Amino acid sequence: MKKILAVFGTRPEAIKMCPLVNVLRSQPDRFAVSVCVTGQHRQMLDSVLSVFGITPDYDLSIMKPGQTLFDITSDVLLGMKDVIEDYGPDVVLVHGDTTTSFSAALASFYLHVPVGHVEAGLRTYDIESPFPEEFNRQAVDLITTYYFAPTQNARENLVKEGKDPSKVYVTGNTGIDALATTVKDDFTHSVLDWVGDSRLILLTAHRRESLGDPMHHMFRAIRRITEDHPDVKVLYPVHLNPAVRRIAKEELAGNDRIRLIDPLDVIDFHNIMKSAHIILTDSGGIQEEAPSLGKPVLVMRDTTERPEGVVAGTLKIVGTQEDKIFEECNALLESPEAYRAMSQASNPYGDGHASERIASVLSEN
Ligand code: UD1
Ligand code: UDP
Repeated sequence: MKKILAVFGTRPEAIKMCPLVNVLRSQPDRFAVSVCVTGQHRQMLDSVLSVFGITPDYDLSIMKPGQTLFDITSDVLLGMKDVIEDYGPDVVLVHGDTTTSFSAALASFYLHVPVGHVEAGLRTYDIESPFPEEFNRQAVDLITTYYFAPTQNARENLVKEGKDPSKVYVTGNTGIDALATTVKDDFTHSVLDWVGDSRLILLTAHRRESLGDPMHHMFRAIRRITEDHPDVKVLYPVHLNPAVRRIAKEELAGNDRIRLIDPLDVIDFHNIMKSAHIILTDSGGIQEEAPSLGKPVLVMRDTTERPEGVVAGTLKIVGTQEDKIFEECNALLESPEAYRAMSQASNPYGDGHASERIASVLSEN
């Protein structure tokens, strides 16, 4: 029997860790599983926990408005010391590249507890982009024992860096597992009534390195798109970061074909993605989910750690300059061939069984 401590703190980590927690908990003869949330996010985290029916065993409740990287890093590091000492896990599982993941992995390292890194091996090799996530994921991989790489490409990054190939397991991404719980054929929502026959652009943007000018540029481009295309409506579930909300309101309020709403729960979000025409985002997880749903994604960033979707043709990196975003979005709206080429459903990130593979590795090693 292995004692597993799963640690996460933000919305995307929760969406990708809850399916794994539920699979591990379905095998009580093999695993005892405790869940520790750091509360780096609050409402956006709790909403995912409730969709997946998970009540945390530990909650560090660290979130505060305007939190800095210093706050998150130090609060999680200190909080995790007590949790790990109390629970005494054989393995600590962390996910991806957030500051929760980095600090929880560091606490495990200080206490000599092996780390399993879910979604290991994603890289841009540009330490400033995304910031601070590229540092976080590289740092976690320095102290990881079990590398759960979502794709072959992620595995190759790790092996090239000198990680022991026998400890790098290609599992698929657990985010694709989540789609099996969330996507429904009979989904209805008042937002879709508002969209009607229009073409829906689903927008999300929140990255730290985009706050300020890049985010103003993104939103101005989107406003121009709605002005040029009367049959387009834009839905933006705005991240709860007050800095993001301020810019969104300044640039996008007062247009009746642009709706700014609170974050959607993950069931609503995934099903509305399925109804969208185009997705404009700077999100990581959405780049993985959209290809599964056959939706073209314009990625408003200068780099991506998810090149598989670019190779498959469903993702396009369009940067953060207003004119470039405007032109690329226009091209996609005006050219049925360009649209068709980007909207082939393909699944480079997983087959929906990543959690089961991770469970097998953990039980056998
Ligand atoms: C964090 C992660 C980022 C991830 C993102 C997912 C780090 C450094 N960043 O960034 O990698 O892509 O989560 O969304 O780990 N807030 C709330 N309620 C919530 C969540 C956030 O009010 O449920 C507000 C708070 O004011 C908080 C602010 O948003 O201070 C920023 O949250 P934070 O976790 O620091 O940064 P994110 O940009 O969300
Ligand atoms: N998401 C959600 N509600 C929303 C917006 C996004 O449930 O209103 C989901 C989305 O499907 C994806 C995840 O949140 O699974 C992405 O989170 P985010 O963009 O905050 O973080 P990132 O993936 O960039 O780290």
